[in-house]
Amino acid sequence: MTSAWFLVLVVYGLVGVQAFSPKYEFEFPTPEGLTPEPGKSQVAFSASLFNTEKWTHYGPFDSETRLVFEKVTTNVGNAYDNTTGVFTAPVKGLYYVRLTCNVGDSGSLNTAVMKNGENMFAIFNTLGLHSSGSNGMTLVLEEGDRLEVFLWPTRSVFDQSRLSTFSGFLVFPM
Ligand SMILES: *[C@@H]1O[C@H](CO)[C@@H](O)[C@H](O)[C@H]1NC(C)=O
Repeated sequence: MTSAWFLVLVVYGLVGVQAFSPKYEFEFPTPEGLTPEPGKSQVAFSASLFNTEKWTHYGPFDSETRLVFEKVTTNVGNAYDNTTGVFTAPVKGLYYVRLTCNVGDSGSLNTAVMKNGENMFAIFNTLGLHSSGSNGMTLVLEEGDRLEVFLWPTRSVFDQSRLSTFSGFLVFPM
């Protein structure tokens, strides 16, 4: 589709001036589905784990625990929910997603970004208290796909509103 439009552009550019009268207005058709609803194509979020500057250690727990990143710094498009910790893709597209976590007083950390329950990427850090790990990926998400972050059993995470963060943004709709 893109190369077809490029060809149209080139041909129009080369012969347009001679072939069309000055009053001719070329209109690009916009096939349905190609252009997402306005607003839905602008998506970006960033949130920190805890909405407090108090030093807070979270975990360890006996089972996988969802991390609810509470403190919203950016939420263009409102696709991130800071009461559940879930980001829901409002439109199909390519997204960039990043997770950074600081190790809590268990001394080790294992967190993962899950898409609809499937492990997409993770952080594993055994360097000790207050060391940090970070990981990111580009992901093709369908409309309605859910991203959430889980903390693995026996691990813990630390935050004071700035060190452990979960972010993502839509690069382009598809
Ligand atoms: C969730 O985000 C809103 C808007 O930024 C904020 O007012 C609220 O305090 C946050 N909730 C928690 C639990 O931090």
